[in-house]
Amino acid sequence: MLKPFSQLEEKMEFLNRIIQGDCRQILKALPSQSVDFVLTDPPYLVNYRDRSGRTVKNDGGSADFLSAFSDLYRVMKPNSFCVSFYGWNRVDEFFSAWRTAGFRPVAHIVWQKDYTSSARFVQYRHEQAYVLAKGNPGRPARPLADVQAWEYSGNRSHPTEKAVTILKPVIQAFSKPGAVVLDPFSGSGSTAVAAALCGRRYVGIELEGRYCQLARKRLAGAASYTRKAA
Ligand SMILES: C[S@@+](CC[C@H](N)C(=O)[O-])C[C@H]1O[C@@H](n2cnc3c(N)ncnc32)[C@H](O)[C@@H]1O
Repeated sequence: MLKPFSQLEEKMEFLNRIIQGDCRQILKALPSQSVDFVLTDPPYLVNYRDRSGRTVKNDGGSADFLSAFSDLYRVMKPNSFCVSFYGWNRVDEFFSAWRTAGFRPVAHIVWQKDYTSSARFVQYRHEQAYVLAKGNPGRPARPLADVQAWEYSGNRSHPTEKAVTILKPVIQAFSKPGAVVLDPFSGSGSTAVAAALCGRRYVGIELEGRYCQLARKRLAGAASYTRKAA
C-alpha cells in the first residue's frame, strides 16, 4: 500500500522506483504537478500474441485503462509534454482518452522499420506515437525529426519491449537533465532505463510483478553503467 502523497512527496519515495499496480490507482497517490515528462507505451488494444504465445495485459479487451490519462495529466507539471505510443487501428479510443484528459496533440512521430512485422493489406513497417501537450510548453532546444529509425529490441524481457536506443532521443528532446520522467505502463522498464542513462529521474508503474522485477534488475545494471561512466 502506498503512503499518502504528502509523505511520498516529502520523502520523494516515488522517485527512481518501479511501482507494481494498476496505474489508475497508483497515479492517484502521486502529487499533482510533480512530473516533468511522460513517455509511455500503453497496450495497443490489438490482442497481441507473439510466436511463443506471450500476451500483454489489457491488450485485448476494454479500453477502460485509458482513463489513466486523466490522472497522468493531473500529475504532469503545467506546460509539459507526454509522448504516447498507441495502436494505429484503435486511434479513436486513444484520442478520446487524450482529449478527455485535456491534452492537445502537437506532433506525431513515426519509427520506420527495416523489416516487415506483419503483412496483410500492406507490409506493416512502422511504430508511432503522438506528442501531447499539457498547456503551452516551450519548443525543445533541439527538435526531434518526426521520422526516426526503428531498432528492434529483441523482445527478450517483454513481448513488446521498446529498444532503449529509440527512447533516449525522445527523452533528451523533451526533458532536461534531472527531470522526472514517468511511464505508467512501464513493462520491462525500457523508459526508466533510458531516463536513467540520460541523467533523468524516473517513475515506472507496471501491473505485472514479473516485469517490475525485470525492470529493477535492468535499472541496477544501468546504475552501475552510469557510475562507471561518471
Ligand atoms: C506495451 S507494454 C510496455 C512495454 C515496455 N515499453 C517495454 O519496453 O517493456 C504495456 C504494459 O502495460 C502494462 N499494463 C496494462 N494495463 C496496465 C495498468 N492498468 N496499469 C499498469 N500497467 C498496465 C502491461 O502489463 C504491459 O507490460
